[in-house]
Amino acid sequence: MDLFRKGAFKGKTVFVAGGSTGINLGIAERFGEMGANVAVISRNEERIAVAAERVKATGADAIGVVADVRDFDAVSRAFAATTEKWGEINVVISGAAGNFLSPATGLSANAFRTVVEIDLLGTFNVLRASFDHLRKPGASVISITAGQAKRPVMFQAHASAAKAGINNLTGTLAMEWGPAGIRVNAISPGPIGDTEGMARLAPSDEATAKLKSRLALRDYGTKRDIADAALFLSSDNARYITGVVLEVDGGLLLGDASADALTLPDRR
Ligand code: HXC
Repeated sequence: MDLFRKGAFKGKTVFVAGGSTGINLGIAERFGEMGANVAVISRNEERIAVAAERVKATGADAIGVVADVRDFDAVSRAFAATTEKWGEINVVISGAAGNFLSPATGLSANAFRTVVEIDLLGTFNVLRASFDHLRKPGASVISITAGQAKRPVMFQAHASAAKAGINNLTGTLAMEWGPAGIRVNAISPGPIGDTEGMARLAPSDEATAKLKSRLALRDYGTKRDIADAALFLSSDNARYITGVVLEVDGGLLLGDASADALTLPDRR
C-alpha cells in the first residue's frame, strides 16, 4: 500500500541543500515525482547541474544553484533565486554533510572545524536564511541528522558532535518558529544501501551481513525510505508534528539486535 499520491506536491516549492548526491538527491527526486518545484543546492558546480537534470527527469521544474552551506550569503542568494522563480518556499531540506572516519587523535582542529561547519553551522545557515522565504503558516523544515547524535560512534567525534547540535537546534527552532506556523523536524537515517557512502562503510559481503544482522529489521534502508519520511513530515498529515527527530533506521538506535548479542541462560 502506498500512501502517497503523484501530484500531491504540485504547486509547492522545495529547497534541498546538499542535494547533488545520495539521500538528499533521492529526496529531491521524490518531491519531483510528487509534482513539486525543486531547487537543489550544492558547492560542486558539475554535480549540481547533473542533479538538476535528474530531478527534471521526474517531470518536475527544477534548478540547481551552487552554494557552500558554510557561506551564509551564498545560501541567502540561493533562497532568493528560488523565491524569485517560484515564490514562497513550502519545504526546506537541510542535508549537506561532510564526513570521514578518523580517531579523535587523528583530527586536526581544522578537520574538526570543517565537519562542524558543514554539518552544524551549515544547517543553521540554511534554516536561518530560509526563514524570510518560507510560506507562513504551513512551511515544513527538515534537517538530516544521524544516529551518532544520540549514541556516539567511534572515529566520529566530529560528526557525532555536529549532528548532536543539529538535534538540539531542531528543538529550539521548533519552539521559536511554531507560532509562525513553521514546523521544524529532523530525520535520522540508518544505513542506506543504495548510496556510495554505504559501499564505503561496509565494502565486503561479510561486513554487510554483519551490519544487517545487528539491525532489528535485518536489512538496509533505501533512499526512498528516507524520502517518504520527508514527504510525510512535509504533508498536512503531519500538521501537529514538530521538534521531533524521526529515526528511519531499521531499529539501529535500539542497539545490537543480533542473535548473539546476548547468550540466553539455560532454561530451568
Ligand atoms: C583526518 C581529515 C580527513 C581524514 C580530511 N581531513 N579528511 N583528517 N582524516 N580522513 C582534514 C584535512 O586534513 C583538513 O585539515 C580538514 O579536514 C579539511 O579538509 P579539506 O579537504 O580541506 O576540506 P574540504 O575540501 O572542505 O572537504 C570536506 C571534507 C570532505 C568533509 C573533509 O572529505 C568531504 O566533503 N567528504 C565527503 C562528504 C561525505 O562523505 N558526505 C556524506 C556524509 S554521510 P588540515 O588540518 O590538514 O587543514 C554522513 C552519515 C554518517 O554524514 C554515517 C557514518 C557512520
